[in-house]
Amino acid sequence: MSLENYRINSLDEYRESQQYAIKNPEEFWKDIANTFEWKTPFDNVLNYNWNDVPSTEWFKGGKLNITENCLDRHVKENPDKLALIWEPNEPGDKSVNYSYKELLEAVCKFANGLKNQGISKGDRVCIYLPMVPELTIAVLACARIGAIHTVVFAGFSSAALAARIQDSGSKCLITADGAFRGDKTVPLKDIADDALKSCDTIKKCIVLQRTFESISWSNRIDVWWHDFVDGLSTNCTPEIMDSEDVLFILYTSGSTGKPKGMVHTCGGYMVYTAYSFMNVFQTAPEDIFWCTADIGWITGHSYMVYGPLACGATTLHFEGVPSYPKWDRFWEICEKHKVNQFYTAPTAIRALAKHPTTHVTNHDLSSLKTLGSVGEPINEEAWKWYHTHVGKNKLPIVDTWWQTETGGILISNLSGVTPHKPTYATLPLPGIQAALVNDKGVPQMEKQAEGILTVNYPWPSIARTIWQDHDRYQEVYFSAFPGRYFPGDGALRDEDGNYRITGRVDDVVIVSGHNLGTAPIENIINEHPEVVESAVVGYPHDLKGNALIAYIILYQNTENTENLIKEIRQLISDTIGPIAKPDRIVVVSGLPKTRSGKIMRRILRKLASYEFDQLGDVSTLLNPEIVEEIKTTLIN
Ligand code: WT7
Repeated sequence: MSLENYRINSLDEYRESQQYAIKNPEEFWKDIANTFEWKTPFDNVLNYNWNDVPSTEWFKGGKLNITENCLDRHVKENPDKLALIWEPNEPGDKSVNYSYKELLEAVCKFANGLKNQGISKGDRVCIYLPMVPELTIAVLACARIGAIHTVVFAGFSSAALAARIQDSGSKCLITADGAFRGDKTVPLKDIADDALKSCDTIKKCIVLQRTFESISWSNRIDVWWHDFVDGLSTNCTPEIMDSEDVLFILYTSGSTGKPKGMVHTCGGYMVYTAYSFMNVFQTAPEDIFWCTADIGWITGHSYMVYGPLACGATTLHFEGVPSYPKWDRFWEICEKHKVNQFYTAPTAIRALAKHPTTHVTNHDLSSLKTLGSVGEPINEEAWKWYHTHVGKNKLPIVDTWWQTETGGILISNLSGVTPHKPTYATLPLPGIQAALVNDKGVPQMEKQAEGILTVNYPWPSIARTIWQDHDRYQEVYFSAFPGRYFPGDGALRDEDGNYRITGRVDDVVIVSGHNLGTAPIENIINEHPEVVESAVVGYPHDLKGNALIAYIILYQNTENTENLIKEIRQLISDTIGPIAKPDRIVVVSGLPKTRSGKIMRRILRKLASYEFDQLGDVSTLLNPEIVEEIKTTLIN
């Protein structure tokens, strides 16, 4: 049987499959896993214990190499099929295609270089590259030889890079002279050099020539990528890995300062990313799939590299930004490459929606079949804009809920198979046992309910631990509700079983003994026609314990905000109650955000309590400059 046999084609099949997977989870996953190439078959589908020290193992005893499944397998069947289309930053520059055969050869070559360097199974390799094909090649080359890759987004600062290299104990760094981002260049090698001052585990730094700008050089540690691979063989025998051997570490921010190195393993991650890719996006063999993320994020790992390649699909990677040279770049690329599935983030959609719709309508988007959203709840306005202008009122939008920790999409509609519903991620994928509990952990059994989202049963791509910190893993994900995985999100469920993610549950503030979620207050503020976006956080208050502050962004600068603020307070008072009225409402021009578009509430809280010396490292933000601006606003 091939993975294709497990494609869900109708709502009835979805229901059947979901029921079957609940009754026979091991049978369900065993059959899907057996469609892959294993060097040695697994003897156990699942061993797990989520009650004391959490442990989860999938397909134990199975031996494999994920790159054989992502590359060699397809080269045997269809060597010339396009694996990767790369669209460079500069629209005038030529795009680059890799067939499966070409990609395999490039991966093997680089893998041989790593081997010559003494890198072997279990060693950590840090990758700090722009969105160029070499990033994918480096990632897969590590997987080929069993080295553990840890990709750091090329927008991160030297301090953030150093922290990740140190925590992972990486032996080797792969970077570039620089990166192109719109009309700017980023001096990656300088940033890397700065980071390496405090990283003594790095023995080699492989440098890709991309911007050709001058850089400093150390003959002891630095080597050019082109010299590194020169003359090497395009064959490289894949390292045989245990299903539970580590494939990669990927860092994600936690509620405290130190990033969490989420550990993903070979077998389960491969099975789940391929299964979810096929079913959520419903790609046909000839389709062009475009995810606009960066490989520095889990979205890039799972749905730009491993998921699509494991399915033998064609994945498009874009080096640049949506605004360069104009705000129509995304649509220009969709037209140029006849993209069939387009997967992006609500934050990008909202930015695009601020510009004239002619940017969209000037392009032929008739190739599109599926639109996708990921990273945060998509608000109704953004959803409608996406559906109307990009989807021409007919394309399905898959709203995919998942996390760095989950490895793959857990809740989403399946494109054209199960219905979409604006602002709802909708239904758990077959094999995913989602549930709602109240704050005491009591399951909410009625269909229509609201509560805290949990997952009650393992799925193959759950992160197995936090690198070198299993205690923190247990504490963060398994201590709130013993026996259940706790993702940290709140959700509600409608009468059809559709889930709507309402936001982080850790954003709950107790004001004068009242439990207030900040997300519902923000939703009300956002209904005001003059408000673009808002963030509500709590800060310590002498009398109330905590008070609320709302930071709001307006469509237009208004001279007199007094009336507007009055209206907003009234609106909140009318909808939730006077208790939910923020003590302070401040107009700002932006909110501190992570690169994936998440508002950094921790920083907003510190700002509100004037703890300016406790903001932590703001350099990894998308817009670090906004922090100063908000400070000034608050002081005045
Ligand atoms: C958190 C995970 C998933 C890859 C990118 C982000 C929020 C993610 C959705 C969605 C509502 C969403 C959740 C989640 N989130 N997707 N479709 N609807 N919320 O990965 O950085 O690990 O963040 O993003 O709060 O817990 P991440």
